[in-house]
Amino acid sequence: MAGVPAGARRRNFCGTPMLPPFANQPVLELRRAAVRAQLSDALARIDRQLPISVPVRIGSETRGGEELVSTDPGEPERVVARAARADADDVAAAVAEARRGLRAWRAIGAAERAGALIGAAAWLRERRLELAALQVRECAKPWPEADADVCEAIDFLEYYARGAIELEAGRELLQLPGERNELRYVPRGVVAVISPWNFPLAIPCGMTAAALASGNAVVLKPAEQSPALAHRLVQALAAGGVPPAAVGLLPGEGDAGAALVRHPDVNAIAFTGSLPVGLEIVRAAARTAPGQRHFKPVIAELGGKNCVIVAADADLDDAVPAIVASAFTYAGQKCSAASRVIVHEAIADQLLHRLAGAVAVLVVGQAEQLSTEVPPVIERAAQERVNRYAELAAADGRIIARVAPVPDRGWFCAPTVVSELPADSPVLQEEVFGPLLAVQRVRDLEQACDLVDGLPFALTGGLFARDPGTVRYVRERTPVGNLYVNRAITGAMVARQPFGGNRLSGTGTQAGGPDYLLQFVEPRAVSENTMRHGLEA
Ligand SMILES: NC(=O)c1ccc[n+]([C@@H]2O[C@H](COP(=O)([O-])OP(=O)(O)OC[C@H]3O[C@@H](n4cnc5c(N)ncnc54)[C@H](O)[C@@H]3O)[C@@H](O)[C@H]2O)c1
Repeated sequence: MAGVPAGARRRNFCGTPMLPPFANQPVLELRRAAVRAQLSDALARIDRQLPISVPVRIGSETRGGEELVSTDPGEPERVVARAARADADDVAAAVAEARRGLRAWRAIGAAERAGALIGAAAWLRERRLELAALQVRECAKPWPEADADVCEAIDFLEYYARGAIELEAGRELLQLPGERNELRYVPRGVVAVISPWNFPLAIPCGMTAAALASGNAVVLKPAEQSPALAHRLVQALAAGGVPPAAVGLLPGEGDAGAALVRHPDVNAIAFTGSLPVGLEIVRAAARTAPGQRHFKPVIAELGGKNCVIVAADADLDDAVPAIVASAFTYAGQKCSAASRVIVHEAIADQLLHRLAGAVAVLVVGQAEQLSTEVPPVIERAAQERVNRYAELAAADGRIIARVAPVPDRGWFCAPTVVSELPADSPVLQEEVFGPLLAVQRVRDLEQACDLVDGLPFALTGGLFARDPGTVRYVRERTPVGNLYVNRAITGAMVARQPFGGNRLSGTGTQAGGPDYLLQFVEPRAVSENTMRHGLEA
């Protein structure tokens, strides 16, 4: 395989290729002038390519179209991509092609599939600057986040490639004389991957890579806001050696995703997105079509209402910058972003005073400017939603900080901190997905944990405390999928912080962790009586 590093071709005594141990792709050193110059060159190159044409891809066939238009959130007149919009016929054709492609793809074995994924990682690595620049334009991701997203996509490919080789070996079972027991994992079949826009390369890449590595064929329906980045992902997979029939691309809106979910020949669904859509998918997947002979498991990673607890003895020098970064980086549009701070009353006024100072100096601006901390939100509807919550916050609570005015071109929202809201305020309960942070006082740690436990979501959360007893208490309750102690609550790294929620934040095993691939396979046990009577020639 073209992209496989030399080390990958070594074999162990069983004949399995030995890959070098997994290591995270290092991020760029953006403080270096030379790196900054390379980024601005890459942005100029991307700008010359706009608008990018994104076709429906089914096997080796592509169908062009311009019905779906993605624009720059910071400059909405700038068209970033024109994409074909997949319809019901495309969905049917893509699933049929994936079913054809499945047979050969699953048969080649995990090592060969890993080679193709590692080849795709190499393709992304070579184009990392342009891919980050495309995120700056298509999703208004500031450079550090755009670069980190490309690195995470590379990490998913490399990590799941290795995981699938291990998984193929099966698991050890108890063996007795005269009996051989085997446990192996087989792919589920055709996996529908439906992705959001906020990690426009890493998230579709992660779900697709996991499904492919474990031998499934994939039909990918990316977010309508970021078709160009999904198109690049499919190009990377093709360049790495994934056969066209094993991965199809259906740019489109929710109706294409819904048709894919309903299709009786889809065996499993990997979805990352909002809770309402996730619930709709779970309901639709539970219905079996006439003749359908399988359940359709849904691997769902959904929204959150992520809380940071600040104990009375917290070090505010650590807590304040970490909370501000967690709440406002990428305008609060990370699923892991902090949206609620629950602070001990003894330290609350001090925290609010310092948060107000730190938020007041946040730089709101275009994603392409390296100084920008808070870019615009993704689209007009998101701006309207965030502003609605901000108005509610102003009416029912006390505004502690608000960075205004913000630029009027583009979908900017003013970063805001609010406190003293009534306990049942939607601002405290619902996912806002924007630069709005609510602060709430509590009398003790138990009340803080009860508030976190009382939410329907359980994605990420944080704790700032000096006392090891406090840390132990919250750790033992582990009220969320990813708990971060004395650090920011965003920025999970593949293989270091497996990522995913509980309760209504997700059904799945954490992405980028050792158990994730198990969701894309079915276990099969074989037990053989080895006491043969007589010998066969
Ligand atoms: N838990 C995580 O790991 C994680 C990661 C990223 C984003 N998110 C969540 O995603 C949301 C933001 O992303 P979004 O705005 O793209 O989410 P969304 O739910 O609006 O859309 C996600 C995808 O689902 C598709 N879709 C819409 N309706 C559908 C339907 N009825 N059937 C099938 N597919 C349908 C969309 O076209 C898109 O591709 C936030 O809630 C965020 O918390 C969660």
